[in-house]
Amino acid sequence: MNHETTRRRFLQRGSEVAAVTAVVSTMGGVHSEAAVQKDIVQLGIIGCGGIMTHHVKGLAENRPGVSIAWFCDVDSAQIDKIAPHYAAAQRAAPKRTSRYEDVLSDKNVDAVIVATPHHWHAPIALRAMQEGKDVYLEKPISHVYNEGLLVSQAARKYGRIVQQGSQMRSSKVTEKAARLMKQGILGEVKVARAWTAELRRVVRPVPDSATPSTVNYDRWLGPAPSRGFNRHRFHGTWRLFQDYGNGEIGDDGIHDLDMACWGLGVDTVPSQITARGGRMLLHGHASEYPDNLCVNYEYPDGRLLIYENYPFTSYGLHGFDNGNVFYGTEGYMIFSRRGAFSVFLGPKSKPGPTEGRDIRGQRGYKEHMEDFLNSVRTRKPNRIPPEVAHRSCALVHLGEIAYRTDGRLDFDVKAQRFTNSESANALLTKEYRDPFVLPELG
Ligand SMILES: NC(=O)c1ccc[n+]([C@@H]2O[C@H](COP(=O)([O-])OP(=O)(O)OC[C@H]3O[C@@H](n4cnc5c(N)ncnc54)[C@H](O)[C@@H]3O)[C@@H](O)[C@H]2O)c1
Repeated sequence: MNHETTRRRFLQRGSEVAAVTAVVSTMGGVHSEAAVQKDIVQLGIIGCGGIMTHHVKGLAENRPGVSIAWFCDVDSAQIDKIAPHYAAAQRAAPKRTSRYEDVLSDKNVDAVIVATPHHWHAPIALRAMQEGKDVYLEKPISHVYNEGLLVSQAARKYGRIVQQGSQMRSSKVTEKAARLMKQGILGEVKVARAWTAELRRVVRPVPDSATPSTVNYDRWLGPAPSRGFNRHRFHGTWRLFQDYGNGEIGDDGIHDLDMACWGLGVDTVPSQITARGGRMLLHGHASEYPDNLCVNYEYPDGRLLIYENYPFTSYGLHGFDNGNVFYGTEGYMIFSRRGAFSVFLGPKSKPGPTEGRDIRGQRGYKEHMEDFLNSVRTRKPNRIPPEVAHRSCALVHLGEIAYRTDGRLDFDVKAQRFTNSESANALLTKEYRDPFVLPELG
């Protein structure tokens, strides 16, 4: 039986998988595991750092219907660290590689989870889709604006599932808030405010140093400019630099912007963007981004989305380091991806419904991955398809571009171009270092 036939059978039989695996997991043992090999989603894990460790632990705990075929990282020490979290979950140890191409060319792999720095997201995701893999792609799905368009286009062209790692979309807290919003508890939501407000510390620049022996730094850099090894331009702190990340707005901020889009219920990108940023606390910080940023987005129908980022609040804002307020004509809702919401109604801000104790704190990780895996099995659309993810990621890129250029930009939502700044248009895309260029979609 060829791979495609196997895959089709596997996909048609998606609904049987849970039942079969439930029986198997109660039976246990080597024989029973081999018996369902073809019925389980074979995963490739690409980028074995911080958040992937969380995902792999989750997959190990909620094992039915899933098998990890590969661990891939350009730093073998990262694979050494992540592998023990899955060791007890599966008889055969996942294969290891530093080359994502090995994972993508494996015909047994159905889907990949990608949690690299942002500059690698689109190059790997596009190739994965060309190889017939579905992709759970960490947020943001794009490092620059145009990559979001390409990822959406590729998902359509190749019929692939792409789930952005915006797990709060799948939380029971969001589900309950959505029911209330749908009932019109807030009236018409006109303004959404999103923030990232935490106590951040200065990261001082350090000189370049020798590349650790476990690391292929040229492949870590990939499409980014070639340079010597620097430990800040590496695990964890890459997010401070434009070549690999998108600063705070593209890190925690994308979660809050995504929920702001959800709360406003917008189905387009904004038509006007104004941004300002500065340094109010983190003097001497290695980051190429301001430590505080404020971006206003106006949508074609006049509704507003406001994003704020501050580095000095150990108390967050309204009690949350990451949050939103949705302001409607009848009241407002304070919402946080930390798993909470409160409603206040009328001219006296009378307290209304909250998330309730039974679901407080639920952040949606498990449900979001499950939603992706269900779509892989059933081919039904997932909760946050790439077009929706792109509208949220667009806010990161448009905000960053406005901050870096003219401060106030007009965007033609149909032509997907700025109408008043060619230097801003140039930043909708970027240069890719050879040979790590984006693949042609044909
Ligand atoms: N959903 C969430 O709540 C959440 C939380 C944290 C991070 N993230 C996102 O997850 C991604 C990873 O962030 P992190 O904090 O785990 O970063 P990290 O630096 O801890 O891990 C990234 C890993 O990717 C590896 N890598 C780099 N290039 C690679 C390549 N070409 N092939 C294979 N591996 C490669 C690195 O060696 C490293 O091990 C980012 O997109 C980030 O925004 C999401």
